[in-house]
Amino acid sequence: MLAGEQGPAVQRAMQIVNALATVYDAERLLPAASAQIAGVSYKNLGQAGLSFLEEWAAQGGRVRIPAFMNPAGMDMDRWREMGIPESYAQPQQRVVEALASMGVTPSCTCTPYLAGMVPQAGQHLAWSESSAVSYANSVLGARTNREGGPSALAAAITGRTAAYGLHLSPNRRATHRVMVWSGLQNEADFGALGYWVGKQVGDGVPYFRFRGDAELSLPPTQEQLMALGAAMAASGAIALYHIEGVTPEAAQVAPQVEQLPQISVHELAPAYAALNHPLDEIDFVSLGCPHSTLADLERVAALVQGQHLQATLWITTSRYVRRLAEQQGWVRTIEDAGGHVFADTCLVVAPIEELGFNTLATNSAKAAFYGPSHSGLQRRFGTLEQCIAAALAGRWPGGSDDG
Ligand code: F3S
Repeated sequence: MLAGEQGPAVQRAMQIVNALATVYDAERLLPAASAQIAGVSYKNLGQAGLSFLEEWAAQGGRVRIPAFMNPAGMDMDRWREMGIPESYAQPQQRVVEALASMGVTPSCTCTPYLAGMVPQAGQHLAWSESSAVSYANSVLGARTNREGGPSALAAAITGRTAAYGLHLSPNRRATHRVMVWSGLQNEADFGALGYWVGKQVGDGVPYFRFRGDAELSLPPTQEQLMALGAAMAASGAIALYHIEGVTPEAAQVAPQVEQLPQISVHELAPAYAALNHPLDEIDFVSLGCPHSTLADLERVAALVQGQHLQATLWITTSRYVRRLAEQQGWVRTIEDAGGHVFADTCLVVAPIEELGFNTLATNSAKAAFYGPSHSGLQRRFGTLEQCIAAALAGRWPGGSDDG
């Protein structure tokens, strides 16, 4: 491949895989079982990134393992409904077309594991979106580094990834013991915990022990695990975590845990304070970061049934989950109330700054973390129920205190 015997597209891909192997001192390459490719949003890629992809596709680039796309900057079918301008939609469509022409599935989601693409424990992957990487490593027990978009695509084209980082067992050991005492009631609490721990642990591997009130929240729901991992990967660079008695590799790494530096979490209020601006009026409510589960859509439909929303509500999810929710009638219920269930995108990768929103309410600590810097939004962060109350009233429930 490196010598160009399989053509210039494969050669370019192997040059990238080989360069990473060299930089990280990898002794060998591993077969990659699947690739999840970020860098799909035109907002992040720009014209240079689009040209790079189109050139690679024109050279004959073709994936040889299952590969799927991360969210794009818009719902690929309903972008007009989102208010996306034509001048953005056209290059965004070309990005998806270039990747699709190489054989990448246009799934456009950061939760491929909710859409039928579930890796097996122990498989080596080349995934790139940080919450997906965290979930694959921590909850599913698969092995992936956080790839960049081009390196994930290179892995998909060569079918190989370099053996370094989280592919190797010694690097999957915990680096910090995190004692959690604070009660955790919902996905927002898990997100707040993740935000706080990500700040302390940086790019390490936390090992969680839930004690006291926190023990009552075990085992966490899938949505809570997604929220925890996504937040830690945003405020820090955590790509793997363990929870005692919950995640698949926790028992394996437990023997080393007593010697590790300890962090104790007794309250979540500081995390909530850091993720909340003292806002009252809300014009935009966004749920679905990471992309919503079917259970979340059911909850939202029950809360908005027969009501009329005052603020714009987006729930972002995968096409697959939206189709299932459509079959249940939940999408119709949400749309009848004035909400939108968009696939393929999310508020962080969509060109929100062009859509005229100022104030965000979200139940995602990750979205709250990125809202100001990526989308120019002041924000409120709380539970799904608080966010729906904000969507119904156009104001954050409880007013403009910091909580
Ligand atoms: Fe997914 Fe977008 Fe959030 S890619 S994790 S919904 S920032």
